[in-house]
Amino acid sequence: MTILITGARGKVGQAIISRLHRAGLTIRAASAEPAELTVPAGVEVAELVLDRPETFDSALRGVRQVFLYPQPAGIHDLIKAAQAAGVEHVVLLSSSSVLGPAAENDPLASHSLKVERALADSDLTCTFLRPDAFASNSLGWAHFTGRSMPIQLAYPDAHIVPIHPEDIADIAVEALTGTSLTGRSVTLTGPESLTFRDQLAILADATGSEIPVEHITRAQAEQQMGNYMPVPMVSSLLNLWEAADHGPAAIADTTRTLLGRPARTFQQWARENVGAFTQH
Ligand SMILES: NC(=O)c1ccc[n+]([C@@H]2O[C@H](COP(=O)([O-])OP(=O)(O)OC[C@H]3O[C@@H](n4cnc5c(N)ncnc54)[C@H](OP(=O)(O)O)[C@@H]3O)[C@@H](O)[C@H]2O)c1
Repeated sequence: MTILITGARGKVGQAIISRLHRAGLTIRAASAEPAELTVPAGVEVAELVLDRPETFDSALRGVRQVFLYPQPAGIHDLIKAAQAAGVEHVVLLSSSSVLGPAAENDPLASHSLKVERALADSDLTCTFLRPDAFASNSLGWAHFTGRSMPIQLAYPDAHIVPIHPEDIADIAVEALTGTSLTGRSVTLTGPESLTFRDQLAILADATGSEIPVEHITRAQAEQQMGNYMPVPMVSSLLNLWEAADHGPAAIADTTRTLLGRPARTFQQWARENVGAFTQH
């Protein structure tokens, strides 16, 4: 019974592959760029490009469960191919953003929401994992800390509850190998609400160097972020942080509530990734 892991170069995909491989399960790692994929010896690799349906059949052959990175393009064809191949269960890496009041029209949230809806309308058993912001998003600051530049933020006091990608992987593995999460939709967070300023203080502590924070206007942030992401996505993120600027964020399910194990802290993630923030 093969388990297919899509988005296999992704952080969560990689962590799931190593766990399932260690457990001796039969897995296939699927990526849009299989040649660039690193997997443990013996793990089968397949090409799967979510907007190229001709790649689906061979990737899905003999598969009973899929861990899916969301991609609305091609999702209906993928569902048809999965059903034809005999897939029974899909565990989707969705997002807590689908729960927002304007999710349907929000470019970030609607990406995952479209995939959730297509799966919910199918005959497949589906488990939706809806994480909040990943701790690893802070790698976006590494370029600046490595050059001793200040971090410029429009909403430095916005609260998020960053989740360690390894916690998502632990929960995904339970969804794929156990029964406690099958068919459920769970919102996932880390163990504590932290402002961006708090996260930067933790990173400063881990690196041993001060990380100055510079408060900028929303218009300045729009201009800067527009250099590396589409404008609708910039607005969506800034709206999210503006809304999060009013006190601690709620803690949802964690590895503690779902698996009975302490959730990894942002301090732990910072210690593990300290090198990324000190290199130039
Ligand atoms: N980041 C967050 O805060 C957050 C929060 C909630 C939900 N999510 C969801 O989680 C998913 C992944 O989040 P992420 O932004 O942190 O990305 P990520 O885990 O780094 O995943 C990157 C994805 O892009 C592809 N990819 C293309 N080039 C790559 C490269 N050079 N290295 C690694 N992967 C590459 C991978 O698929 P292939 O191997 O097939 O190319 C993989 O699916 C997204 O679908 C997002 O909606 C993220």
